[in-house]
Amino acid sequence: MSVPKQPTFHQLFTTDHDAVRAELLAGLTSPVAHTSPKFLYDALGSRLFEAITELPEYYPTRTEAAIFERDGAALAGVVPAGATLVDLGAGNCHKAASLFGTLQPSRYVAVDISVDFLRSALLLLQRQHPAMDMVGLGLDFSAGLALPTDVVPADSPRVLFYPGSSIGNFTPDQALAFLRSVHTACGPVAGSGLLIGVDLVKDTAELEAAYDDALGVTAAFNLNLLLHTNRTVGTDFNVREWLHVALFNAAESRIEMHLQARHTLTVRWPGGQRTFTGGERIHTENSYKWTLPRFQALLADAGFAASQAWTDEGQRFAVCWARAL
Ligand code: AVJ
Repeated sequence: MSVPKQPTFHQLFTTDHDAVRAELLAGLTSPVAHTSPKFLYDALGSRLFEAITELPEYYPTRTEAAIFERDGAALAGVVPAGATLVDLGAGNCHKAASLFGTLQPSRYVAVDISVDFLRSALLLLQRQHPAMDMVGLGLDFSAGLALPTDVVPADSPRVLFYPGSSIGNFTPDQALAFLRSVHTACGPVAGSGLLIGVDLVKDTAELEAAYDDALGVTAAFNLNLLLHTNRTVGTDFNVREWLHVALFNAAESRIEMHLQARHTLTVRWPGGQRTFTGGERIHTENSYKWTLPRFQALLADAGFAASQAWTDEGQRFAVCWARAL
């Protein structure tokens, strides 16, 4: 009897709480107040995002899943079997796990900012897939992707997995830099590549509804940033004084989320304060929407040799396989 495999865990990222506080305050005190979308994801924010993915108006998650379902066989024909599957922003690992049957990886590397998000999911998955090598990596890959050589074997192909249109949070320049680092992380073995989901430009009303749903879940998700900020930097934001705003900026091809002051108010924190006039906003997120030709050109710019794409009937969302070499 061989010993059953166990996942291994490596935490490579440590939070610098002073730096986080400084970053939040720098954004809140700049002439046009802004915060990074990463601050939307505290414990409650992560659960609200999961709820968003089930809303009737929020089409990306279910559209992407339908594409994987419908085009799984085609995908299996181009993605190398026996690869190391590197899941960027794995969270509960559900999306990647649902593709194990299609992609047939030999090793699964789940990457997220904290291994604590990955621990229980990977332990459960390992029991369902006892022969697969499983690794949990705590890494902040947003500033660039450096995979430790001991978790990605140099002699087998790699499939990097970046679903959900998470790429949408990057400006086009940042997306290019990120995709270049992903291309490098694909390594030297032929057949390696990137499997990525991207949300497409569409009718403004449909886009705006997806970010301003009737139940108000996205509003709660956005407003929760204020509670997170209160806890993190000691501000005294009153959620009731703020309004959720989501709009499509066509010139920049992005959905913007803002929090708008309902009237003139002052926010205080240890060591400072800021007055917001009524209507003044805090810009909390950009979610870029791509056309398929522009996105495939971006993949080529980033160094990928060739890409193919699958979309739903309504051309709402695209799944791309980009070969590295
Ligand atoms: C996780 C960045 C893909 O932009 O659609 C959902 C985040 N924000 N509703 C997106 C989000 C508001 C989501 N991403």
